[in-house]
Amino acid sequence: MALVPYERNSMPALSKLHDVSAEFHFANRRLRLSQDWNRLGVAAVVWDAAVVLCMYLELGHIELWGKVAIELGAGTGLVGIVAALLGAKVTITDRAPAIDFLCTNVKENIPPEQQGAALVKELTWGKNLELYQKGGYDIILGADIVYLEETFSALLQTLEYLSSDRTLVLLACRIRYERDQKFLDMLRTRFIVQEVHYDVQKDIHIYKAVKTKYEL
Ligand SMILES: C[S@@+](CC[C@H](N)C(=O)[O-])C[C@H]1O[C@@H](n2cnc3c(N)ncnc32)[C@H](O)[C@@H]1O
Repeated sequence: MALVPYERNSMPALSKLHDVSAEFHFANRRLRLSQDWNRLGVAAVVWDAAVVLCMYLELGHIELWGKVAIELGAGTGLVGIVAALLGAKVTITDRAPAIDFLCTNVKENIPPEQQGAALVKELTWGKNLELYQKGGYDIILGADIVYLEETFSALLQTLEYLSSDRTLVLLACRIRYERDQKFLDMLRTRFIVQEVHYDVQKDIHIYKAVKTKYEL
C-alpha cells in the first residue's frame, strides 16, 4: 500500500511521515493529528494534499456553512475535521482498518459542542454503497486518493453514486505517475472537471468536478 516506500532517514523530506503527530492551524484552531505510519501506513499520516485542500477550503471560495459533505479516503481526517470546523456537516470515511484511528483524531480535534458535525463511517470505494444516500451530498472531498489504479473504477463509481447534479467534488492530487492522469481522464467521461488551484511548492493540484455545467 505504500505510496513512497523508503528507509527512514534516507529521504529527510519524508521523515515527517514517521512523526507521531503533525500540527496545523486551521479554522482558528490548533489541530494536532496523531500519526502511526508503522501500524497503518498511508492511512495514518497527513499528506500534503490534505494540507493544501484545507488551505483552499479556508480561502472561502466554497461555501461550507450548513452543507452536507463527505470525505473519501480520509486517513487521519484532517480535511473532514477542517470542513466540520468551517460549518459543514461531514461524514468522514475510510477503509475499516483506518476507522478507530480516524475516530480518535476526530474526537481530539473537534470541540465537544461541534462533535455532532462529524460522523466517522467505513466506506470502501464501490462496496456497500447502499449504506449511503445516493446523490445525498452537497460536497465530496478527497485528498491524495488517486494513486491505486486497481481502485480507479470503484472510486469513480463511488463519486457518481454519491453525487447529484448539484454536488461539487473537490479532489486534491499529487500527480505522481501517468496512471494518476488516467483517473482524471476517466473522471472527465462522467463529470465536468476543472483545475481550480495549484500549489507550486507542494506540487498539489485541486480539481473541481460536477455532473452538469451549471455548477462550475
Ligand atoms: C495517501 S492516503 C491519503 C489520506 C488523507 N486523505 C490525506 O491526504 O492525508 C490514501 C487514503 O485512501 C484510503 N483508501 C485507499 N484505498 C481505498 C479504498 N478502496 N476505499 C476507501 N479508501 C481507500 C487509504 O486508506 C488512505 O487513507
